[in-house]
Amino acid sequence: MNFTPFPEIKTERLLLRQLQSSDCEVILFLRTDKDVTKFIERPEHRKTKTLFEAIELIQEFDSYIERNSSIIWGITLKNEPSIIGTICLWNFTQNDKVAEVGYDLDPRYQDKGLMSEALKAIVVFGFRKLKLEKLEAFTHVENLPSTQLLGRQGFIHNVSRKDLDNTSNIIFELGNPHITSQ
Ligand SMILES: CC(C)(COP(=O)(O)OP(=O)(O)OC[C@H]1O[C@@H](n2cnc3c(N)ncnc32)[C@H](O)[C@@H]1OP(=O)(O)O)[C@@H](O)C(=O)NCCC(=O)NCCS
Repeated sequence: MNFTPFPEIKTERLLLRQLQSSDCEVILFLRTDKDVTKFIERPEHRKTKTLFEAIELIQEFDSYIERNSSIIWGITLKNEPSIIGTICLWNFTQNDKVAEVGYDLDPRYQDKGLMSEALKAIVVFGFRKLKLEKLEAFTHVENLPSTQLLGRQGFIHNVSRKDLDNTSNIIFELGNPHITSQ
């Protein structure tokens, strides 16, 4: 697995690109806005409260990308420089066969199918380029937009799995159709 050079991804309406320090204001917004964070629980030390901390966070993301341990894309509308959200693959298992997907979108751009478009592209990237066997998503049981988004992309709620770290979460999974597990 190698995230250098950074794998930019284009879809019909979007460009998924590497975050830059200049994205700090939107990153701070996405991590503090009460609607965006309504169902996202972060421990105190993972909270971003200032622009400086947002820049530090982007630098931290860069270091993970350099080490190929996780990857986050800034989501932009094609031909518009500002990011409107993010999508990431992280929590890779040691054998790099399973990863978790995470995402957030500025509410002004929700309900337009944009995250569906981004997630579809990341699923293709994860399965075709990274040859993942499975993608997972942990989401709050009441986070309807998120569970619907996952359902639209074919993710299935695995009722037999529990998130012991957060019992409000449910776990969705999507297997790579090109790899048959034994
Ligand atoms: C989860 C989240 C990204 C979903 O965003 P979203 O905009 O609802 O997702 P989609 O891109 O799939 O858009 C779907 C909606 O757009 C509508 N839509 C309009 N045009 C569409 C198109 N071309 N294609 C698909 N859907 C379209 C759909 O009908 C749907 O609306 P509905 O739910 O009223 O039926 C968003 O709610 C969010 O950022 N939440 C806060 C962060 C968060 O909770 N993240 C999850 C952490 S686990």
